[in-house]
Parts: sequence; C-alpha cells; structure tokens
Amino acid sequence: MTGQDFIDRYGSVALVTGASSGIGWAFAEELAARGFNLAVAARRTERLDELAEKLAAAYGTKTTVIAADLSDPAAPAALLDATAELDIGLLVSNAGFNLKGRFEDKDPAAMAKMLTVNCHAPMQLAHGVIPRLKARGKGGIVFTSSVEGLIGCPYSTAYAASKALVISLGEGLWGELQGEGIDVLTLCPGATESEATAKYAEEYGMVDKLQPAAEVATLTLDNIANGPTFLPHAHYGAQFEQLLAMPRRDALTAMAGALKATVV
Ligand SMILES: NC(=O)c1ccc[n+]([C@@H]2O[C@H](COP(=O)([O-])OP(=O)(O)OC[C@H]3O[C@@H](n4cnc5c(N)ncnc54)[C@H](OP(=O)(O)O)[C@@H]3O)[C@@H](O)[C@H]2O)c1
Repeated sequence: MTGQDFIDRYGSVALVTGASSGIGWAFAEELAARGFNLAVAARRTERLDELAEKLAAAYGTKTTVIAADLSDPAAPAALLDATAELDIGLLVSNAGFNLKGRFEDKDPAAMAKMLTVNCHAPMQLAHGVIPRLKARGKGGIVFTSSVEGLIGCPYSTAYAASKALVISLGEGLWGELQGEGIDVLTLCPGATESEATAKYAEEYGMVDKLQPAAEVATLTLDNIANGPTFLPHAHYGAQFEQLLAMPRRDALTAMAGALKATVV
C-alpha cells in the first residue's frame, strides 16, 4: 500500500495507548512519519508532551495528549469520550506490562491490575471504536500481545495468560470484521527494546536478541492487512513456532527447565 493509500484507509487520526515509551512510542513516531495525527494515552503525560513536541517539529503532527491510568476499569470509557470528536481510523491498543517469576510469588493485587491493563482495556477500547470504524467503512485495529500469548509460559504464567486473551480477542475480531473494511492485526513481539526489557533483559539472557522498537512498529504497520497475527521477531518467531509444533507436554517441560534457572 502506498503512503497515501495507507493514510486514506487508516487515517486521519490514530489512537495509541502506552505511547510514553517503548513500542507505543515507536508506533506514534512511525504513524506521524506516515502523515497521521495522533491521540496518545499513558500515565506519564510529561513523556507524551515531549513526544507531541518532537512530532510537531519533525512532521507537523497534531497530537492530543490524554492522561489515562488503564488499571482503572473506568479509564477506557473516559478515553473513548476524550477522543469522541476525533476522526479515529486506527486504534493501536498497546499499553501493557508483565509480571515475571514464580506464579505464587506474585502479588494478587498486581495480577488484577495487569489483567485490567492488558485485557480489560483492549477489549473495551475495541468495543468502543468498532462502531466508529464501521460508520466510516474503513480503518484498523492493532493489538499488542506477545509471543508469550501463543502458549503457556512457565515463570511468566499470569502475563502469558493475559496475552493469550489478547490473541483470542484479536483473532475473533479479525474473523468478525472481515468484509467491513476494518483490518485487525494482533502483534506478537518477541524481546523488543523498551523500558520493560531494559529491567530484565540481562537476567533472562536476551540482551543480544532485542529487536528495535522502531523496526517492530514499521513491520507491523506494513503487515496490518495480513492478520490475524504477526510475529515480527525472526528469532523468537521461529523459536515459538518450533515449540508449538512439539507435543504440548514436551514444549512446556523444555520451557520450564530452561527458565527455572532464571528464577531466584
Ligand atoms: N518489549 C518486549 O519485549 C515486549 C514483548 C512482547 C510484548 N510486549 C508488549 O508490548 C507492549 C508495550 O510494552 P513495551 O515493551 O514497549 O514496554 P514499556 O516501554 O514499559 O511501555 C509500556 C507502555 O504501557 C504503558 N502503561 C503501562 N501501564 C499502564 C497503565 N496502568 N495505564 C496506562 N498506560 C500504561 C506505559 O505508560 P505509562 O507508564 O506512562 O503509563 C508505557 O507507555 C506491552 O503490551 C507489552 O506487554 C513487549
């Protein structure tokens, strides 16, 4: 798709959650470079203001900055209200966080927050945006899941379960929205450069395998019409496809054995 065709189909405004760092920031930059205006949401609005200033200077982008704590179950509705007057053609539901380590050591309250941010928010945002996209007869939704959503992941159990929901959500909607002019793509990144991975990449032996966030954003947008799912990372994509081809018991035993050593 040419640049103009892309913006005609998915523009003029993209709503990006989790745009204050990492993959979301990279999506915002790539969309601005493609001529989109933006609505960006996160808790750290000072980071979003910095992003908005940068994109205005580089591309003349108009950015609406919205403070949103998506661990509040009411936040998606407020975000939909705040963008009601904007011509949203693309939702990038990207905000999320992980909890790594032994399942029983995780704080139950943190797990509940993770489910609200990683699962409740994308479901509610998609529910609010779809009627708007249908009224326009065109548009797109990108959900950021993870390769860990493709199979249960020992020592990342709760996070992987949350990302499995996102894949199921995206796949179901990909099927439902066929023929409506609305593309749905569920992005399954492997290890990607971000604030999140900066905290544990060394511990998990991923440092030399981190994919640049800008590359993930560009490849994802280039593949938006090639859903239902997209794995941008060659190494982790191949590794998880290999695991999925194994008997489930063997795959989970191998993963548990490899990851146990990383858990203190
Ligand atoms: N990096 C990887 O290796 C990797 C791999 C697979 C999947 N992913 C997924 O990619 C997505 C982006 O993560 P990232 O890797 O780019 O990490 P990141 O740099 O930590 O960015 C996470 C983003 O989510 C936002 N966020 C977190 N909690 C939030 C909350 N309660 N309310 C609103 N926004 C919130 C953060 O904004 P504030 O802190 O400003 O609120 C930030 O903008 C996540 O869904 C993650 O699960 C990442």
